[in-house]
Amino acid sequence: MDAPISDVLSIEKIAVNDEETGRYIALATINRPNKLNALNSEVMEALKNFCAWAEADTQIRCIVLTGAKPLAPLEGKRPKPNAFVAGADISEFVDMDSKAAKIKFTDNAVEAIWNLTKPTIAMIDGFALGGGSEVACSCDIRIASKRSKFGTPEINLGLIPGYGATQRLSRLIGYGKTLELVLTGEMIDAEQAEKIGLVNQVCANEELYDITMNMANIIASKSVFIAKAAKRTIRASLNHSLDEGIAIEAEEFAKLFDSKDKVEGVNAFMARSKPNWHDN
Ligand code: COA
Repeated sequence: MDAPISDVLSIEKIAVNDEETGRYIALATINRPNKLNALNSEVMEALKNFCAWAEADTQIRCIVLTGAKPLAPLEGKRPKPNAFVAGADISEFVDMDSKAAKIKFTDNAVEAIWNLTKPTIAMIDGFALGGGSEVACSCDIRIASKRSKFGTPEINLGLIPGYGATQRLSRLIGYGKTLELVLTGEMIDAEQAEKIGLVNQVCANEELYDITMNMANIIASKSVFIAKAAKRTIRASLNHSLDEGIAIEAEEFAKLFDSKDKVEGVNAFMARSKPNWHDN
């Protein structure tokens, strides 16, 4: 299956552990470095197409999202900073009314990322602001370089977050910290982001790719069928009470005992061999 082609989103299929096993990681790079990878309509459309493709392509086990690195500056110009995504493209807000905003912000690409059933990682190198922090929060895991900066500056534009931060960010870092970030519009650095649980791991700038891809390889070498069950079950904790969530877990856990991959995993352990996952 061919990946969708777009100037604003580069897509690579990377073989898991560099082996010819038919298992791949999909790496999608938002490619508007001169605009700090801001999310314009074209990027949002490309991200939606990417999600549909990555979900349907059975070779893909794990998805990594990132932003393009800055280009070399033109002569006499200052270099652009590193960015994951510096937010929604503000230039598209200029003449936008509530009707157009509702269409743009409903059923958007951030929801498409959130709704992926396969594991997702945000690889963050630089600014992750507004929609950028929302894209990151719609991924399962966030790994950031030391130079990254996070924030929800919409209040400075006379707005509030519109791609889910009021809900997903507060589930991740709590009600109080979310209010602080949204009401002040101030940025925090990567170390503070790690301290409050906004990112899973912070690393040296030059180690970001290797550390992220190492984690993606570990995840992608498991059964994607079991990984999906884990993601679905953990996700249930966001929408259900503790008792309901425990009941969902018991149900999901028990169902796996009829799967080929439970048989494979347990038998491989007993035989001290490497499991050969069937993905069902
Ligand atoms: N939408 C559209 N364009 C954006 C953008 C956004 N969210 N963020 C940055 N850009 C563009 C700038 O307009 C500039 O374009 P230009 O060179 O054609 O003029 C380019 O990206 C580089 O940004 P610049 O502001 O010059 O870089 P900086 O290093 O001085 O500042 C930021 C970096 C991130 C602090 C600053 O760009 C910023 O505040 N961006 C907006 C963040 C925001 O409010 N996001 C939430 C949107 S809802």
